[in-house]
Amino acid sequence: MSFEHLTDGLGIGAPAPRLTWTLPSGAGPQEAYELEVARAGRVERTGRVASRDQVLVAWPGPPLSSRERATVRVRVWTPAAGEPTAWSEPRAVEAGLLEPGDWRAVPVGAAWDEDPSADRRPARVRKDFRLDRPVARARLYVTAHGLYEVEINGRRVGDETLAPGWTVYPHRLRYRTHDVTAHLGRGANTIGAWLGDGWYRGKYGFDGGTRNIYGTDQSLIAQLEVTHDDGTTTVVATDGTWSAAPGPILTSGLYEGETFDARLDDPNWATPQAGWPGTPVAVRSRDPRTLVAPLGPPVRRIQEIAPVTVTRTDDGRHLLDFGQNLVGRLHLTVDGPAGTTLTLRHAEVLQNGELATAPLREAHATDTLILAGRGPLTWEPRFTLHGFRYAEVTGWPGELTADAVTARVYHTDMRRTGWFTCSDPLVDRLHENVVWSMRGNFVDLPTDCPQRDERLGWTGDIQVFAPTASYLYDCAGLLDSWLTDVGLEQLPDGTVPWYVPVIPGEPMWTPIHPGAAWGDVATLTPWTLFQRFGDLELLRRHYPMAKAWVDLVERLAGPTRLWDTGVQLGDWLDPAAPPDDPAAGRTDRYLVATAYFAHSARHLALAAAELANGADAARYTALADEVADAFRRRYVLTTGRMTSDSATAYALALAFGLLTPRQRQPAGDRLAQLVAEDDARIATGFVGTPLICDALTDTGHLDVAYRLLTQTECPSWLYPVTQGATTIWERWDSLRPDGTLNPGGMTSFNHYALGAVADWLHRVVGGITATAPGYRTIAFRPRPGGGITWARTRHESPYGTVSLFWELTATGLTARITVPEGCTATAELPGCAPVALGPGEHVLDTAELATEAA
Ligand code: BGC
Repeated sequence: MSFEHLTDGLGIGAPAPRLTWTLPSGAGPQEAYELEVARAGRVERTGRVASRDQVLVAWPGPPLSSRERATVRVRVWTPAAGEPTAWSEPRAVEAGLLEPGDWRAVPVGAAWDEDPSADRRPARVRKDFRLDRPVARARLYVTAHGLYEVEINGRRVGDETLAPGWTVYPHRLRYRTHDVTAHLGRGANTIGAWLGDGWYRGKYGFDGGTRNIYGTDQSLIAQLEVTHDDGTTTVVATDGTWSAAPGPILTSGLYEGETFDARLDDPNWATPQAGWPGTPVAVRSRDPRTLVAPLGPPVRRIQEIAPVTVTRTDDGRHLLDFGQNLVGRLHLTVDGPAGTTLTLRHAEVLQNGELATAPLREAHATDTLILAGRGPLTWEPRFTLHGFRYAEVTGWPGELTADAVTARVYHTDMRRTGWFTCSDPLVDRLHENVVWSMRGNFVDLPTDCPQRDERLGWTGDIQVFAPTASYLYDCAGLLDSWLTDVGLEQLPDGTVPWYVPVIPGEPMWTPIHPGAAWGDVATLTPWTLFQRFGDLELLRRHYPMAKAWVDLVERLAGPTRLWDTGVQLGDWLDPAAPPDDPAAGRTDRYLVATAYFAHSARHLALAAAELANGADAARYTALADEVADAFRRRYVLTTGRMTSDSATAYALALAFGLLTPRQRQPAGDRLAQLVAEDDARIATGFVGTPLICDALTDTGHLDVAYRLLTQTECPSWLYPVTQGATTIWERWDSLRPDGTLNPGGMTSFNHYALGAVADWLHRVVGGITATAPGYRTIAFRPRPGGGITWARTRHESPYGTVSLFWELTATGLTARITVPEGCTATAELPGCAPVALGPGEHVLDTAELATEAA
């Protein structure tokens, strides 16, 4: 049982959280369910509800009020057994602070923040308090302007990093709810918080970034609510009675890194015993209506990796290779005299044996640690993150051994749901690289890259990657939250920004213009999430944003139905585009814009139909037809060729269904011919790359799709793999065949967009496709090729495990299939008629199926 898209129900913001449960395999189909909700003083049961629903089922009974706790369990009826199943394990859900009036806490921080020109040394804030009665239960509701980490009586609260993450702060600032019962005791207690700049007031954006995007302060907003054994409560909330003092962090920035002076640190600073040089805090304000509970999980430490090699340079520096390009920070234990200064630098690649920091642009990614000389110190920066495989340590006292330093990997703690492996080790590594690039860029919001002075929520990147992402991880909550911010940043005329949250006034992308493929995130990504997670309410909530986007493009296109004006990035990063002008690809950028217009109008119509909005469904279906018609008239020549005779043009027209039935095959053939002429080197950018393999597959050129997939010459998906890549690169040749860095200003080694081909790996090579929302119906449709002899893919769908392992045999292919309870499927194996499958395990053999058919 889970609540909304959260695995942990503590502090939920939805007063009537929807419930999802999975059935044990072999249970048989659910024909009815009963829910039980136990809350203070009463237990309510729904009675038997005749329904097959088990995903995001409406909350039974009255909504939760603020702080209210309930436990929920379910039992189901299946046709086989007359009796219901046993009750499931009870799961707890507890509402957060749902009403603005619940908040007594106000933002408090260092008074010296008021002067923006003054020292920006991060502060810590602290409060001593007494509890005169035993503690029965305690909750901390907490957030900040900037970043925070709370300690109570010297013990860390929670295990998340970079909280509260990044949202459109003026409208939405997420607080978390922590159970801190065990942190507190009767008598003297102390609560304190570290503060950091983060996105709120740190330098962020291009050219090293702009400071103070949202304000000049770092402030904590914390409300500790203690319930005593006799039912009375004590509330300790941030207010003017707190005090602030500078901490041992001297500077801190997401791009710059952190400087920490251990000589200034007292590890017991947040205990009642510690001396504390605090001065009264400055009290600030925030509208409590902007404080919201999270929709997804927080960022956490997910993994720890030891260096593969440690090399000492002639001048005494140490170079560490972690063997994997990752996102995180170094964690180390070191001993040395007071005042010893260690400098930690990070980079994704080496050039001539040294860190190549040019791709980081103005992100210094440098941490500095000054030792206190009080014995071994274990340390890691708090409020920064770096994208790196290599690190250089200067100033280490003596010899740095591999056990003294690890790399800790951080990202949003999403549930892993998708796996893929096959007989080709290069394709396997490609897939692994996609997973790592997703991990590195799903750090609270979906970003383009994790290392340089950018790390922004680029809309086009996630638009193309969302189908892959939603297979690999349960990212519904994270993306739902981010899409909410996209809606908030949408301009009144419907323009969807290039990246969200927007950095106001940032010179490169202001004023904001609407652009195809990027802005289409508004229509396409909610649809993808609906398909993969079965969440109709999500589709409903983002529908106004989607509609405003399509209406805007309709106005921009005017009566011609061609969107052929304005700023467009086209097939961004077409390998033929010059390094310094990635938008100048082979495909007419307005062809791309009109194709996306048709595709978005089509998806808006589909969404309207799902939402039972017949008028909109009809209106946008007609619009989509008209745009497709205009597209054909303008961009498809009578010869069947397209005005841009490029792979992306044909891939778009085919994958978006913009051609007439008669035009399809010639277009597919021309696409295959173009690929062959390029010797199956990739010739597509952001727009064409996610589509080309499907366009080839669907027009009878599966072999050509496999040639593209398995190509290792530059540019191709596997070229970086042959160069030792451990993540997906931004450019096909971020590292060029001669071993030098691509000189373009954007040369990231950790960009997921071109990894969107993994969706094709999952569906076509692996063979699993959702044919109804949430994988309620599934097609197992593997299409072997490319010399791959077996593939295994698995997805934890909302209904449970979906898996397919296929293997070529002397006579054809065998397939081992798992269909979750509650779902039905068809197996469409090569050369065989479709076979209907119910829940359970199935083994199919194409030779046997052929004999049976005969
Ligand atoms: C980002 C891209 C993004 C693009 C759009 C780049 O700097 O890294 O991934 O979509 O800008 O212009």
